[in-house]
Order: sequence, then structure tokens, then C-alpha cells
Amino acid sequence: MSENITLTIDGRKITVPAGTLIVDAAKMVGIDIPVFCYHPKMEPVGMCRMCLVEVGYPVRDRESGEFVLEEDGSPKIQFAQNLATGCTEEVAEGMVVNTATDPVDRARKDVLEFILTSHPLDCPVCDKGGECPLQNLTMDSGPAESRFLYDEKIKFDKHVPLGDLIFLDRERCIQCARCTRFQSEIVGDPVIGFYNRGRRLEIVTFSEPGFDSYFSGNTTDICPVGALTTADFRFGARPWELNSAASICPHCPVGCNLTLNTRREAKTGGKDVIKRVMPRQNEWVNEIWICDKGRFGYHFTESEERITRPLMRKDGKLKPVSWNTALKRIAQEFEQARDDFVSLGSGRLSNEDLFNLRKLSDHLGGEALLYSEMAGGDLVAQVGVGKGTNFTNLGAGSTILVVASDLEEEAPIWWLRVKQAAERGATLIVTNPRATKLDRYAHHLIRYPYGAESGTVLTILNELSSKRMKLPEYAQGLRRLDELKAAARAIKETENLIVLFGGEGVGYQASQELASACTQLLIATGHVGKANNGLIGVWSQANTQGAWDMGMRPTADIANKLSRSKGLYLVGVDPIDDDPAHADALKAAGFVVVQDLFLTKSAQSADVVLPASSFAEREGTYTSGERRVQRFYPVVKPVGESQADFMITAKIAESLELKLEGTSAALVMSQIAVDVDGYADISYGELAKTEVQIPIVGRSDLYYGGTGYANHQGVGVQVAPTSQRGQTPSLEWRDPPVKLPKPKRGLLWAVPISRLYDNGRLIQRSTLLSSRLTEDWVWMNPADALKIGLSGSGEVEVQVNSFTATVLASVDADVPEGIVLVARSSGIPITEPTGIGVRSLETVKA
Ligand code: SF4
Ligand code: SF4
Ligand code: FES
Repeated sequence: MSENITLTIDGRKITVPAGTLIVDAAKMVGIDIPVFCYHPKMEPVGMCRMCLVEVGYPVRDRESGEFVLEEDGSPKIQFAQNLATGCTEEVAEGMVVNTATDPVDRARKDVLEFILTSHPLDCPVCDKGGECPLQNLTMDSGPAESRFLYDEKIKFDKHVPLGDLIFLDRERCIQCARCTRFQSEIVGDPVIGFYNRGRRLEIVTFSEPGFDSYFSGNTTDICPVGALTTADFRFGARPWELNSAASICPHCPVGCNLTLNTRREAKTGGKDVIKRVMPRQNEWVNEIWICDKGRFGYHFTESEERITRPLMRKDGKLKPVSWNTALKRIAQEFEQARDDFVSLGSGRLSNEDLFNLRKLSDHLGGEALLYSEMAGGDLVAQVGVGKGTNFTNLGAGSTILVVASDLEEEAPIWWLRVKQAAERGATLIVTNPRATKLDRYAHHLIRYPYGAESGTVLTILNELSSKRMKLPEYAQGLRRLDELKAAARAIKETENLIVLFGGEGVGYQASQELASACTQLLIATGHVGKANNGLIGVWSQANTQGAWDMGMRPTADIANKLSRSKGLYLVGVDPIDDDPAHADALKAAGFVVVQDLFLTKSAQSADVVLPASSFAEREGTYTSGERRVQRFYPVVKPVGESQADFMITAKIAESLELKLEGTSAALVMSQIAVDVDGYADISYGELAKTEVQIPIVGRSDLYYGGTGYANHQGVGVQVAPTSQRGQTPSLEWRDPPVKLPKPKRGLLWAVPISRLYDNGRLIQRSTLLSSRLTEDWVWMNPADALKIGLSGSGEVEVQVNSFTATVLASVDADVPEGIVLVARSSGIPITEPTGIGVRSLETVKA
């Protein structure tokens, strides 16, 4: 237990943990000590001197060591001759701090006057104006006049792009180094830094492309002035014109909490439009950070390509019809299909949507399928991380095992939190067939050949167990790895164990085997059913875990299921875009309804297309990979006649004599609470509850935590896995593959991977990120590239079964020889490792 210290700040006696900095101690009792360079999530540097305070220490008698007392019996306090920086000084027993005295006031005025000697008078046009710590602190404590000459201010060209997302106004920079420290300390991407000295000092980027980091937008939140702004928001609106609504990021399973700022605009006919996306504090999920996909990816919601009305096929063409006409036709067709009805939903949908979808499928006697390349959500429901889990609590004594995942690409904020846990002393074991950025922080690094992911986890388990199971021959090679043995030892000795399994190079079958192996390991070592222990699926969508929980199930045989259905209901999925071969399956299906935001390839071949509202236009919940159910709120009005998915499904159900809740997402959740295992305690009221979070951030504390929002709309509720509710996990044993698969002679081995800026359907329409979309569709080892005559990146023709395409290939030494990495959203139909023919078009042309 940490020692506590009692001190007095501005006459108030407070007790705080030893090691607390004076600024933080003051903040805990609501006393504001202004700061610029200090940030509660970073190490103090004492650069700006804005936090100067009077600090006094109790005087001790040299001989007895006892406190010397004043006449009135209070301890005698000796104040230091100079003011001290409250951001670098730790509290001490009996310390007395004064933050509101004349010397302190004078010091603040001096510091502000000094900073303003070289700061432009931009407030009326600056994006930060209205939420700028420098502006606010100057109004609060600054001098009324400056002794310095306006003409002597330093002048730079303004608005230098640091990359395509972040712009720098060099004159405004107060040289606090919050941005550069964030990049190097917090996210480990030191791609910006100081250049030059003195007044000519400026921030520059070292990377190509500029400011190459998935977390760059966070620097604009913590920059205490308007020096860093986003390409998105700059000159877009003034902060006081904005309305705010709470939301959850729809892009990955982390479930980062967001605040969406909107403004009514004349140019859109008086409609509310989203002006920017900001992080909302949730110390259990994303702390106060979000990645750039979450920040800039929302533009798809306002795409001109959104479907605004129901469409029905007539004379071979999709034509606009009324909702009534479309729903009537759908009900007739689904009624006839009955047990040949198939619904296919995805983790893009909310829990409420998926619940209604599964209920409709059950009512008709059909199947409710989940479109997911990964399996294992049923196991996560049993041995997922325990209620109370928080990555922040992991440090020495904890172990994190990451298997088959390029975590930064698949779930950036988990990557960040796992990295930080490793830096706090948690043992990080990374097992992946190729190098990823997480390797830098790994204590044990295990490389296995693609296909051996479950075999690797079971080999670790074998090392730990006295009763050895028989493993395939290739596991012998793994057993000889010292790193694997060391990893097994670390797991044996650890107090907490969290396992994250991802989709790197795995298809549905291999993913099932991997999830099963991870579950075996957790059960055998006793790391289930408690906080900070358990299994996390690194799903490719925000609510895939929710989809499992709502009863949707993936299948290995999707094309067959689709083609045999007589009534097919595709909601938030586009199977044809992922694999053109699915076009035949949809043609063979009896009657196809597609419900989506866009006229996707699947929608173009449907009989009826229904317009769905985006996450910003409706309410609902997502269940994160850590099984935290979180609520998002409507931010803007639905586009055209679009409706929330659960509402549309309820309307279809009504004509089929099934009563589903179709008016309120909150009421659907109350049915989920009755029907879905583990969700009994969840209601919209519970999800809206908040808790005190440290550090304190928010509108009145802009100078301290940045412009991220405090959480007033709910931190969500974590669902306990069955193992934490007293049930013994039931697990079907799945053998690892007997042999590692190999391609036929002359072919390379194509393996599917995920990239953050992939070519997915939502991000494609997010204008700001379009320049960052993964351009190279395949990545190859230089030796393989050389064999086909490719000297560097270039065009290649790829052939997978009967599919042929011309794509860009990138040469990357981290790709193992014989392997071709294929981005899942590339349009090349690779759902599991497959033989691929690759030939260079350069050679053909030559
Ligand atoms: Fe500080 Fe902003 Fe300058 Fe970075 S750009 S050093 S955060 S003032
Ligand atoms: Fe969204 Fe995932 Fe990025 Fe968080 S980490 S902002 S959930 S994409
Ligand atoms: Fe303390 Fe900058 S020196 S906040």
C-alpha cells in the first residue's frame, strides 16, 4: 500500500499518495495551478514556469529531529526564497503550498507577458480561440499591458502542413513540447521534434509522409495554444458555436468514447453538421486518447453517396419506392422463405439491431449468420476479461500475450495501452509470424510459421503442463525455441494474464483453433473469471463481440448458405465486394434484401435496398472487445428517409406477425437484458452512469488535460464472463492443424492481414483519410520479388483460383519468404491462407 502524505494548500489540509506532484494534489481538491508544459499523462519537464507557487517546509530541530513549533503550537514553516514549479515538486509531509499570493500572481503575470512577447494577436481568427489555455490564463492572470514592442514579434509563414492531417502555425507555438513528448513518450512515434534555437525554434516533422503516426490528432487536443490544428476543423467553426453529443467510435473493437461537435450551417440549409470528433474520457477504455481513424473517419456519414430512399427492382432496375411498398414486398417474400430464410449481419451493427435481426430469423425458422473472418466470440463470453479489468492496472506481476495480431493496425488504442503496460513492467509476449511495431516493447518474441498459431499457443501450454499432450511434428521446432520456454516460464509465474488473439493470417477454421488454444491456456493456468485476466478477441469491427452475444454465429460455408436461401436479408454487409464469387451466391438466392448506408456491390444486385442510418444519426450500444457495453447517442438527423437498422427490422417483423421493439433502442435493450446471458444488469440508465476519473479533464480544465471532453454521458458497463459468474467454461477441444499448409508448386502463400487505413466501405468514403488508404494491396519479401523480376514496389498481376487482378505490390523485408500479405479489404478474395500466383507487370512489359 502506498504511503500517504498530508500537506496544506492555500490553507486546506489534504492527504494524497506519496509521489503526487503539487499541481496534481491541488487539482484533487479543486485548486487550480495553471500549467502549460505539464500534462497529467506525461512526465514533468518544468519548461514553462507557469506553475510557480510558494512552497514551505516544516522546520525540524537539528538535534531532536522534531518539528519546531510556533507560539500557537502550529509547526514553524520555512518558505523557500524562490518560487518553485508545482509540476516538478512532489508533495512532502507537512508541506505548505500557497498558490494565491502576490509573488505568485506577479510570477504568473511575468511568465504570460514573456510568452506573449512572441505570440501573435490571432485570437479573433485562431481555431483555439474560446478553448485556449493561453487565452484563458491571460484573461485570468495576465498583465493588462506589455512592455514589449509589437514590431519585435517573430514572424513566420503560417499554416505549415506537418502532414495531410495536422497543420502548424509556428508563431503561435509556446515551445512547451507537449506535442513532441506525446509522440515520443506516449505513442512511441517520435516523428516530430524541435528545430532551431531560441525564438526561431519550431516544430518540424522527420517522417515521410509528414507526421506519420496513427495518433497525430491527439497533439491538437493537448497543444495549449492554436499552434497545432487539424485539417478537418481549422477555420471550420468557433468552439462556442458547437453543440456536443456523446458517441462511441464505430471503427474497431476498442470502443473509444467520443464527443461529436456539431453546428447548424446555412450552407446545408440550416441542418446540423458534424464539425469535429473529440476524445471523451474513459479511463477504462481509451483514457483521453483516440486514433486518427476514429477522429477523421466520420466523413462517411455525410457522403453524397448515401442511400436516402428505399429502392426496389422493377424491369431489371432499382427504382425508388415508398417504405410501405418495400416492406410489403419483403414481408411477402420472407414469409414464403420461412426456414430457408437467412439473415447476415456484421459487427458494424448495434446490439439492438443484431438482437432484432436474430429474433426475426428465429421467428421464421431461418438462420442468423454473422459475417466475420474470426471465430471465438462464444469463448470470449465464457473466459473473456473479468469485470473490473483495466489495462492501466497492469504492470509488474502481469503478463499480456498477443497472438496473431498486428495490434497497432487492428486496434490502435489497445496497442497504446499494451505498450504502456509493458513500460510499467508487465511482461509482454508477442507471437506473430512477422515483425510488427509491438515487437519493440516485447519481453519475449516468438515467431512461428503462418498456420502454426494455435500450435504455438498449445506448445507454450505443453511447456507448463506435467501431462504433455501430443502435438504435431512442427511443434517440435517451436519447442526448441528459448523464447517460447521463457514465455512459458513468465506465464507460470504471473499473477495476471490477458491474451489477445487477432486475425493475422487466419481464416475462420484457424481462428476457431486459435481461440480454443488460448482458452485452454487461460483455463489451465487459472487465469479466468477475475479482473485483469482473460481473453480478448481483436475483431475487425466495433461490435463483433456484441453480435456473438446477441446470438449471431459465423460459418465457414458462407457462399453455400447464401446461395441456398430463398429469402436473404443482408444488413451492414457486402459479401460481393469481399469476394466476387459471392455474386453467384446472391444470384442463386431467392430474394435478396440489402440494408446499408451505400449502394454497395451487393446492394446493386439486390431485389430491395433499404436505407439505414449511420451511428451518428441514431442511438444504440456496442459491446467492445473487453465486453464493455457502451451507449452512443444521436448527433445529427437521419439522412433522407433512412432509419436505424433495428427499427427497419421491427417493421418487417410486424408484417410477419412478430412484435419486435421498433421505436426505442432503450426498450430493445430492456428485452436484451431479459433474453441475453450476462446482460441482465444492463439498461440505458446504467450505461449513462459516470464515475470520478483521474486526471480531471474537461471544459474548465482545458489547460490541464487538453480539449478532450470529460465524460458526463456514461462510462458503460462491463459484462462479466460466465467464468466470473460461477460457471465452469465448456470447451470443445480443437486440435491444431496436423501439418502446415503449403501452396502448390510455383505459387506463393497469400495470407490475409488487416490494416488500419484499409479500403473498407466506410473509410473509403471518409474524404480526409482517402489519401492514406492502403495503396499497396500486397506485400512481398524482397527475395520473392526479385524472383519475379520486381526490384522495388510495382504493379503485379495476382491470380487466386479463377480471380485475376492487377494490383500494386510493395517489397518489405519483414514479410517472410514465400508469403504474400494481402489486405483483407483489397478486393482480392483471400479469406484464409491460399496459394497465389504473382507476376510482375514490369517484366511482362519489358
Ligand atoms: Fe507546445 Fe503546441 Fe508548440 Fe507543440 S506546437 S510545443 S504543443 S505549443
Ligand atoms: Fe476508433 Fe479503434 Fe481508433 Fe479507438 S482505436 S478511435 S475505437 S478506431
Ligand atoms: Fe510547470 Fe510548465 S513548468 S507547467
